[in-house]
Amino acid sequence: MKVRKAVITAAGWGTRFLPITRSQPKEMLPLVDKPLIQYSVEEAINSGIEQIIMVTALGKRAIEDYFDRSFELEYVLEQKGETKLLQEMRELSNLVDICYIRQKEQLGLGHAILTAKGIIGEEPFAVLLPDDIVDSKVPVLKQMIEVYEQYKTNVVAVERISRQDTIKYGIIEPKRVSERVYQVLSLVEKPESAEAPSNLGVVGRYILMPQIFDALKVIPSGKNQEIQLTDALRLLLNQQAVYAYEFEGVRYDTGTPLGWLEATVALALKHPDIGPELREYLRQLL
Ligand code: G1P
Repeated sequence: MKVRKAVITAAGWGTRFLPITRSQPKEMLPLVDKPLIQYSVEEAINSGIEQIIMVTALGKRAIEDYFDRSFELEYVLEQKGETKLLQEMRELSNLVDICYIRQKEQLGLGHAILTAKGIIGEEPFAVLLPDDIVDSKVPVLKQMIEVYEQYKTNVVAVERISRQDTIKYGIIEPKRVSERVYQVLSLVEKPESAEAPSNLGVVGRYILMPQIFDALKVIPSGKNQEIQLTDALRLLLNQQAVYAYEFEGVRYDTGTPLGWLEATVALALKHPDIGPELREYLRQLL
């Protein structure tokens, strides 16, 4: 069955960005010329996704307003003769069909995904964590859907990470299948480096079979007292295969101020309008 739906989780507190996130969802922080969340939405669309289920929470309304249509704004732009901008704003609100669900208690990634069960139903679906932004020629999700088409089962994105960073990621125990594909023998959430089964860390892109919901419902709280997707996938291994795909592209973790700044500089340098001048400015600064 085709992967048509994608869950984008946008319910976290964004504590690493306090005080900004007191009144502003972290997903709405700008990354060069658009909010962070738009990168995941565009990646999903460019990978063929037809419906997005956005899991939000209290204080995240700015996200819904952002993707909505604003007749007032369109009217003002029309009056001013700003035709190009008007066109861009209309396109933005017509991007894709998005529905919103609220996660009422922030009990972890697994719990957030479980809130989408009713809308997903009985079909495979994608999950994108908007903190992870990947700069790549082919959207990462599209690369993963190709792997899914081959194996017709769960696929997680992975990349090589440094040993001291295992405490930040889900880590897989891999069995190599081809150049970029591994069968997952086991996986563990944020292990100490001595306990990590490899240095292949899970990046926030998944294709999941609907049976993941049954696993999510029965697993107890794991790391940090949260319902962990990693734990549900490990349970699912008793029943279904899970593959890991080492994607092509450069990933940025925009979930921390430093990672967000790195992504900002790297992507701004590639931007045709501002890149050349920024390069010159940075050269002078250094
Ligand atoms: C989540 C997952 C983790 C994964 C990571 C990727 O953790 O639980 O397995 O490696 O995303 O970004 P978080 O970063 O939300 O703590």
